[in-house]
Amino acid sequence: MKKSGLILTILLSWGVCSGQQADQISVYANQPGAKVQSTMWGLFFEDINFAADGGVYAELVKNRSFEFDDPMMGWKMLNNGNGRLFIYKNEKTENPHYIRLETHHEGAGFGIMNEGFRGMGVKQDATYNLSLQARNIKGTNNRLTVSIIDSLDHVLGEASLKIAGAEWTPYKAAITVSSGTAKAKLAVISHAVGTVDLDMISLFPADTWRGRPNGLRKDLVQLLADMKPGFLRFPGGCIVEGRTLSNRYQWKNTLGEPANRKLIINRWNTEFKHRLTPDYFQSFGLGYFEYFQLAEDIGAEPLPIMNCGMACQYNTSELVPLDDIGPYIQDVLDLIEFANGPVTSRWGNIRAEMGHPEPFNLNMVGIGNEQWGPQYIERYQQFANVIKEKYPDMVLVSGAGPAPDGELFDFGWENLRKLNADMVDEHYYRNPEWFLDNASRYDSYDRNGPKVFAGEYAAHSKQDGSSLNHNDWKSALVEAAFMTGLERNADIVHMASYAPLFAHVGGWQWTPDLIWFDNLSAFGTPNYYVQKLFSTNRGTHRLPVSPKTSSSSGKERFYVSAVLDSGNREIIIKLVNFSDRALEKEIVVEGFDRLDPTAKMIILQHNELKAVNSIEFPEKISPVETVINSKKNPFPVSLGPNSFSVIKVKLQAEGK
Ligand code: AHR
Repeated sequence: MKKSGLILTILLSWGVCSGQQADQISVYANQPGAKVQSTMWGLFFEDINFAADGGVYAELVKNRSFEFDDPMMGWKMLNNGNGRLFIYKNEKTENPHYIRLETHHEGAGFGIMNEGFRGMGVKQDATYNLSLQARNIKGTNNRLTVSIIDSLDHVLGEASLKIAGAEWTPYKAAITVSSGTAKAKLAVISHAVGTVDLDMISLFPADTWRGRPNGLRKDLVQLLADMKPGFLRFPGGCIVEGRTLSNRYQWKNTLGEPANRKLIINRWNTEFKHRLTPDYFQSFGLGYFEYFQLAEDIGAEPLPIMNCGMACQYNTSELVPLDDIGPYIQDVLDLIEFANGPVTSRWGNIRAEMGHPEPFNLNMVGIGNEQWGPQYIERYQQFANVIKEKYPDMVLVSGAGPAPDGELFDFGWENLRKLNADMVDEHYYRNPEWFLDNASRYDSYDRNGPKVFAGEYAAHSKQDGSSLNHNDWKSALVEAAFMTGLERNADIVHMASYAPLFAHVGGWQWTPDLIWFDNLSAFGTPNYYVQKLFSTNRGTHRLPVSPKTSSSSGKERFYVSAVLDSGNREIIIKLVNFSDRALEKEIVVEGFDRLDPTAKMIILQHNELKAVNSIEFPEKISPVETVINSKKNPFPVSLGPNSFSVIKVKLQAEGK
């Protein structure tokens, strides 16, 4: 076969019927359209999978204040026979339990040991800050040795504390460890005959994010900061709703001294029978102040999601009667004052006392998480009436239920449209095909209705909750294809976030998740890199492209979107080739003669759709940067099989 015949055959086998023209992708750089919102690509945070306690909240001691349902969960008695221990309950305080150690013999002593969250991660030569509350009940020489030990009980570092006063007193010590392990434990041993009471036994790495006490895990926050997210949604997720209303998220209980924050069971503790996690509680050490601070640190707009008087509709569906909804609405008004109010206001003053006199600049708040039905609409309406009256510019995020289509979804949208809602949150945990088929989902959305928040999405190869869902390359690639559709519709899609965000490899309930970690390290999934490539290449205005996707009937599955970065005079083109063969394309930048002679091309690619990243191979699938020739306009690009590419080219001169 002659060469030209071969080319024609290849073109035909790709489903291209009109020759050369069909291989061109036109980017209309001379027709910048709607602004891409600064909030376009953001983060969904929920304390699921040990995301907060056991995860980004850097506390290493599990059940530090003995408040779990079983007060000794996570703790073990040491040297039984040398003493006795008792759990006391002082019902006058928020966290009423504490432990009493009665030591009967000198010498080896008597004590307790904490196992951490599937162990404690400690690093060689690093320092760990111990703190505890103690009082001396009996004895003149009460001393504690607090040791960080490894799984073979070798001491890696220790501190000694003399417990003298009869009143509760805070004690502190810094412990430097001689070698690192992911499975350390903390032993607290009393050596003298006598009795001491202990509470809030806590151990943090000294090296937290920004060195803050009660701080966050640095490596995990860094992964978030690297994404340059536009917003941070918190604290969930279903955790906002609770299995019952009494274990809904109540932000006011998460302020002030960590020791006084009332702990509750985490609703993911019991959710999945195949992933029961009996030791999952919410200490609220990471509370609303810390969430706002985190959002500020990573340059993200805060988006708190508030309970609207409804418990999770998958669980109890408890409802607050409409007549009694007032306190729930007041909670939102108070939150706005907490975030934005002057220091002279009641809640602004609490923010200032916690160390942040400046406002947190809250511009949006979610009313309910994943609610549906008439009960939601009537509650949303009451919230909106009151909040808008006082804060007309506050953007209210409402929800369209748990699915991206169907009766509940249509009902939600229809009614929220009638109520002139600002922004509607859509959730889609769907199979990979759905993501490909829905890349054009928003092309036909009403341009005059509420804006869209793609608030929770992830490609699930199996059903939700299945442990067989993986963060494989296929799931990431189809999400990239879908996200080109979000970007092309940036006039109405104002926010989007993958969900959930974090998972501990030894403590998860839900998969897939964006970032996985153990006690010492963390890695971004291929899905993470897709999100990051979009959010760090957001641009300022969307640009029309043609064609937007390949025809769905053809074998070629190809998706494209483009934005202009007006500040940098740069166009950014995102291209997804979901096929097992390379595609040769030509980019035509319409409206500009001259381009920078070289363009940057960032490629995320793997030949194996089942490939995943892991603790051992954290960057198996990660972006590779290269340079391509863009001297001529049009310029050629080669898109590898099953690849996601981002091309960045600077415009040299205007007008054609
Ligand atoms: O992301 C996990 C859960 O999925 C969220 O908590 C909930 O909003 C949705 O059902």
